[in-house]
Amino acid sequence: MTITALRGRLLSFLAAPEGAGDAASYRYTSDGVVVVEDGRIARVGPAAEILPTLPAGAAVDHYPDDLILPGFIDAHLHFPQTQVIASYGAQLLDWLQKYTFVAEQRYGDPEFAERQAKWFLAELLANGTTTAAVYGSVHPGSAEAFFAESERLGTAMIAGKVMMDRHAPPALLDTAQSSYDDSKRLLQRWHGRGRQCYALTPRFAITSTEAQLEAAGALAREFPDAYVQTHIAENRKEIEAVRELFPDSRDYLDVYDKYGLLGPKTLFGHCIHLEERERQRMAETGSVAVFCPTSNLFIGSGLFPMRELARRDPPVRIAAATDVGGGTSYSMLRTLGEGYKVQQLQGTNLSALEAFHLVTAGNAEALGLQDEIGSIAPGRYADLVVLDARATAAMAHRMEAVAGDLEEELFILMTLGDDRSVKATYVQGRRMHEREGTRSRSPA
Ligand code: GUN
Ligand code: ZN
Repeated sequence: MTITALRGRLLSFLAAPEGAGDAASYRYTSDGVVVVEDGRIARVGPAAEILPTLPAGAAVDHYPDDLILPGFIDAHLHFPQTQVIASYGAQLLDWLQKYTFVAEQRYGDPEFAERQAKWFLAELLANGTTTAAVYGSVHPGSAEAFFAESERLGTAMIAGKVMMDRHAPPALLDTAQSSYDDSKRLLQRWHGRGRQCYALTPRFAITSTEAQLEAAGALAREFPDAYVQTHIAENRKEIEAVRELFPDSRDYLDVYDKYGLLGPKTLFGHCIHLEERERQRMAETGSVAVFCPTSNLFIGSGLFPMRELARRDPPVRIAAATDVGGGTSYSMLRTLGEGYKVQQLQGTNLSALEAFHLVTAGNAEALGLQDEIGSIAPGRYADLVVLDARATAAMAHRMEAVAGDLEEELFILMTLGDDRSVKATYVQGRRMHEREGTRSRSPA
């Protein structure tokens, strides 16, 4: 058995915060120790209690000034879009044609996909993200390369090959049958293998025929514990196109509903322009609405109605994500900072407590992984991020005006922070990224 430990300022959420100041929603230990045994958290508590119990010579990584949180979780992003990020001047449907469908064609080359998978996962770790729900390209080899690298790193990832059989360049099209066969083969190979999980990934209604959606639904019925991920109600022209392509459906969500694709394991990217009936149906099926603020702003899609969705009875389950390459940053800190602004534009707020809960325990719950990740508690995997709120001159200067107020520090991190604030990232208790020195882009 290998025992390691981390010491620092520990923060972990116990419940969804009601708003700013909800001290009952989290546990903060100003000098705490997390003890890791065989990749999982064995014990956690104040340093004064835990340190004397450690065997002589146990390694302790000490971060006296930094916050140690559960590793961030990104509930939606695209592995083949690392060279699409920051593409100028187009909204969704044009952006897909002009940039995305061009870049994704390169992932038909397995060696290219393998190199990109290494780069991509190293970049996630450099941003403190230890779990993500990830879209591959249409090529089965892209998902294969991604899972292989994630398995090598020991990260918990959810991913799938995109299913798309129309309205894209021929090189990016599968068929209903081949997408069924390839998805099934990948699912059987990777779902539940170590920490990897498979997500059936019909890209969105526009790029799938009814036959392909039927195939996705058949797989969802055959493998009810697999995830489903897709896009919905991101952009007005997209919604109009779906209406024309599926005239018999009541609305956009109804297209997916007809094929049995709703439920607690389904992640719907965007959900910006859902109608009342769709919101109600999302809530009653336990489907998850994924908020992607940097993407929604960058490709001009609109403002995610987080409060309206969360305050319903029953509420719509919500997760947060970068949506790289529509999104403009791999950083969940940047994502929260932009998420705050999106709420401000709607006359409401996103408190630092709600924000940091969302990208740790909240996203873990949205993915049904709350017993494995998302909090610093015995039995959970020791996937952790070490955050430095004084990472830049501007942050250090701003922090001089903070007299030990945790919520203010968190708000500074989410407003001014990015990968420079990530001092270290641990996966199963192993340090996989370290900020100082020459930063390795291919850890381990
Ligand atoms: N809708 C369908 N495909 C995509 C994609 O790759 N990115 C975003 N943001 N929306 C989509
Ligand atoms: Zn997306």
